[in-house]
Amino acid sequence: MSLWHKRSDMIVHESDPYNAESSPAVLVEDFLTGADRFYSRNHGPIPDISATGWRLSVDGLVGSPVTFTLAELQSRFGHHTVTATLQCAGNRRADLTEIREIPGEDAWGPAAISTAAWTGVRLRDVLAVADIPPTATDVAFAAPDVSQIADPPQSYGSSIPMHKADAAEVLLAWEMNGQPLPRLHGGPVRMVVPGFIGARSVKWINRITVRDSPSDNYFQAVAYRLLPADADPSTAGPGGGLSLSTLPINSAVLTPADGATVPAGERAVTGYAFSGGGRAVTRVEVSIDGGNRWLQADLDDQPNPWAWTIWRAVLELPPGRIEIVARAWDESATTQPESPALLWNPKGYLNNAWPRARVTAILPGTGTGATDD
Ligand code: MTE
Repeated sequence: MSLWHKRSDMIVHESDPYNAESSPAVLVEDFLTGADRFYSRNHGPIPDISATGWRLSVDGLVGSPVTFTLAELQSRFGHHTVTATLQCAGNRRADLTEIREIPGEDAWGPAAISTAAWTGVRLRDVLAVADIPPTATDVAFAAPDVSQIADPPQSYGSSIPMHKADAAEVLLAWEMNGQPLPRLHGGPVRMVVPGFIGARSVKWINRITVRDSPSDNYFQAVAYRLLPADADPSTAGPGGGLSLSTLPINSAVLTPADGATVPAGERAVTGYAFSGGGRAVTRVEVSIDGGNRWLQADLDDQPNPWAWTIWRAVLELPPGRIEIVARAWDESATTQPESPALLWNPKGYLNNAWPRARVTAILPGTGTGATDD
């Protein structure tokens, strides 16, 4: 174990603020990601808030502003558990940085994504007591962690549209996999906004503001926006590019690892697939000839479409250098683009191109692949 009770094999992009992802090899050992390997993305110092000291205010365009303690939240509203995957918008950015550098952003691999069973109360139930007028269009979340990355420095915040705030899957959660929410992951209470980029699932939430426009917080109005490839992020300013919300269909090949040497012959291949917006994953295919022929992978059960699917295939690997590629499909019959070059953007968000694992298959006993390319 190392920092924040995480496994010692976490890939740590930054230790302060802590930004780390699981080793791909152990990410889908279990369907629910343990707190010891759940990725963590932070923009400032990690607040230390006691369960008894925590307060949540609901204000803005509301008929009745209100403040809750944790005990009040837990006693006034029905408890719900939603199994949901959180995925950072920067997941798989490393493949984009191979195309062109992305200064100032961590080169996340395929494990800036994790799945937990979240328990808490529905945001819509909490909003109902505050009396929301029909003119309200957005719900903003604020937290106490002040980020020096923001321009100007400010505490973390974001917002979601009212139709999402009203959805049954959106929770104010105090439990992760049946345990009190760890401090690193937003304890005592965080937002969980399934199917949206992880940036909207605000940790250590202390204020909800009902608005008639999206939040003007830096992390909503400036960062986490999809800029055109030729834009300069330092001058794009508030409102530039597209605001990110629903995640596109994505997948990863986790084992064998990219760069591994494996015995030739029958080889088990595993990974995950996930699509935002509550769209179920319907098919995952793998190929070892650049996508000329595809083999359908087996899909583990997906308990609900807000959670990832773990997929498995058995491939016959000939000796030599082989590139295993995958592509997933969701229930809207949408699949992944072939090349990250088509997707490159200046902040490196939403790479959902075909994942690739380049492996060397060796003949048992010889220690080498048989080809000389
Ligand atoms: N909430 C606060 N208050 N501060 C943050 O830095 N990071 C966001 C989101 N909520 C963040 C936050 C981002 S970008 C992601 S991807 C998720 O939290 C990561 O949640 P995790 O650290 O529990 O995995």
